[in-house]
Amino acid sequence: IPVDPFDLVIFGATGDLARRKILPSLYRRRQAGQMPEGARVIGAARSKMTRTAYQKSIREALEEFVPEAERTAATVKAFVDCIDYVAVDVTGDGGWQELCGKLRPDVVRAFYLSVAPSLFGTIAEKLAESGLATPDSRIVVEKPLGHDLASAQELNAKLTRHFDEQQIYRIDHYLGKETVQNLMALRFANALFEPLWNAQHIDHVQITVAESIGVEGRGGYYDKSGAMRDMVQNHIMQLLCLTAMEPPARFEPDSVRDEKLKVIRALDPIHVDDTVRGQYRGNGSAGYLEHVENPDSKTESYVALKVQISNWRWAGTPFYLRTGKKLRSRLSEIAVIFKEVPHSIFPEVSNRKGNALIIRLQPDEGITLRMTIKDPGPGGMRLREVPLDMTFADALGDEFDIPDAYERLVMDVIRGNQTLFMRGDEVEAAWAWTDALLAEWQDSPDRPQSYDPGGSGPDDALALLHRDGRRWRDIP
Ligand code: BG6
Repeated sequence: IPVDPFDLVIFGATGDLARRKILPSLYRRRQAGQMPEGARVIGAARSKMTRTAYQKSIREALEEFVPEAERTAATVKAFVDCIDYVAVDVTGDGGWQELCGKLRPDVVRAFYLSVAPSLFGTIAEKLAESGLATPDSRIVVEKPLGHDLASAQELNAKLTRHFDEQQIYRIDHYLGKETVQNLMALRFANALFEPLWNAQHIDHVQITVAESIGVEGRGGYYDKSGAMRDMVQNHIMQLLCLTAMEPPARFEPDSVRDEKLKVIRALDPIHVDDTVRGQYRGNGSAGYLEHVENPDSKTESYVALKVQISNWRWAGTPFYLRTGKKLRSRLSEIAVIFKEVPHSIFPEVSNRKGNALIIRLQPDEGITLRMTIKDPGPGGMRLREVPLDMTFADALGDEFDIPDAYERLVMDVIRGNQTLFMRGDEVEAAWAWTDALLAEWQDSPDRPQSYDPGGSGPDDALALLHRDGRRWRDIP
C-alpha cells in the first residue's frame, strides 16, 4: 500500500548510513510500489554539489549496496529522478533558505538526521528557526542517543524544545527487524504461549546477540562505548522488553511503549557480580587493543549479564543477556527455557534439558520448540529431545522476503506510526539502569577477561550460569 506523498530531507546525505542503508531502503520501497510518485528525497550535506552530481553518487551507492537482481534501469532512473540536493551548513546560515524553497506545504515532511549526535540539537533548532519545521513535520534520530542518562536527558530536552514527542522518531534498528516484530505476533496472536509466559513455568530466558565481526574501522567510536552502550542499552534492552512486557491493550504506539517502559523500570539494579566483561585478543588476526588508540583500554567487546525483573510475572526467573564481537558466528536468538515437569513418571535421564522455545532472529530466522519424545526402540522408556523446527523461509516459501529494518522504519515515519520507535522516557529509563553498572565498572580495578576470537566468549561467562546450575546455549 503506497504511503502519502512526502518530502524527506536527509541531513548527512553523503554519509555512510545514508548511502548504505537509508537510500537503498527507499529504493526498495520504490520498487515495491510503496513510495508514491509524489515522493521526494532531498539530500542535505555540507559539500557543494549539483543535483546531478548527487544523483550520480546515489546511483553508485545503489550499485554497491543493492544486489544486481533487485535493480532495473527503469526503477533506478525513476528513483534517482525524485532525488534532489541542497548544500546546507548546519551550524551556519548557508542553504537553509534554498532548502525552504524546495519543500512543499501540502505533503508529509520528515527530517532524517543522519549526522553526528552532537548536531541533533543544532539542527532541530535551525529547523524551527528557519520555519522548516511545521506542527506536523517529523524528525528522525538514531543512536547513540546520549552516552549516559544526563546526556540523553539533555538531548531529549533539545529535541522537545522544538518538536512534540509525537513528532520525534528515535530509531532502534532492531525494532525494524521483521523477526523482532514477529516476537509480538508470536506472543500476542497465539493462545498457546501466553498462559505459560511467566515465572511459574519459565526457568530462565537467554538473549544472545553474537557477532563474528570485530570493531575494525570503528575503534574510535566503539572504544568510547563498549558492548554495554553499543548493544545492551538499546537493542538488547528492546528484545528484553518485547519478551518480558505485559500484553499491551492495543497495538498502538503508546500502549506498546508504556508496557516496555514498565519492564525497564522493574529491572533490579545490576551489580558487577552479575556481569562478565570480555575483550577479544589477537590470535592470527588483530585483537581488540590493536583496533583502538588506547593500548590499555578496558572497554568491553563482550558482556554477559544476569538480569532480574522484579514484578509478579518474572520474580525469580532470571534473564541472561550476552553480546560480543569476534565470536564464533553471527547469531541472535531469544531462548525461553521452561521448567521441568513437576514430577517425572519416567526413569531419570541424565541429559534431559526440558522444553525450550528458541526464537531465532538472525540468520536463519525461525522458531524451534524443543520437545521431549520417547527414544525409539525396545530399550525401555527412554526419553530424548527433538526440535520442532520452523524456519520462516520454509514456512512462507516464495512469500519469504525479509525487508531491511530501515525499509519498514522509514515508511513508518511517513505513515506517522511511532510503535516501533523509542519514546524519550524509555531511552532515559534504559540509561538510568545502565549508568549504575557503568559506574561500578569504572570504579573496579578489574580488566575485562580476554577471550579468543572465533569462540563463544570469556570463560567467566560460563561460570555466570554454572553457579546457578544452568548453561548457555551453544553458539554453533
Ligand atoms: C549497531 C552497533 O547498532 O548494531 C554495531 O553499533 C552492531 O556494533 C550492529 O554491529 C548490529 O546490528 P545487526 O543488524 O547487524 O545485528
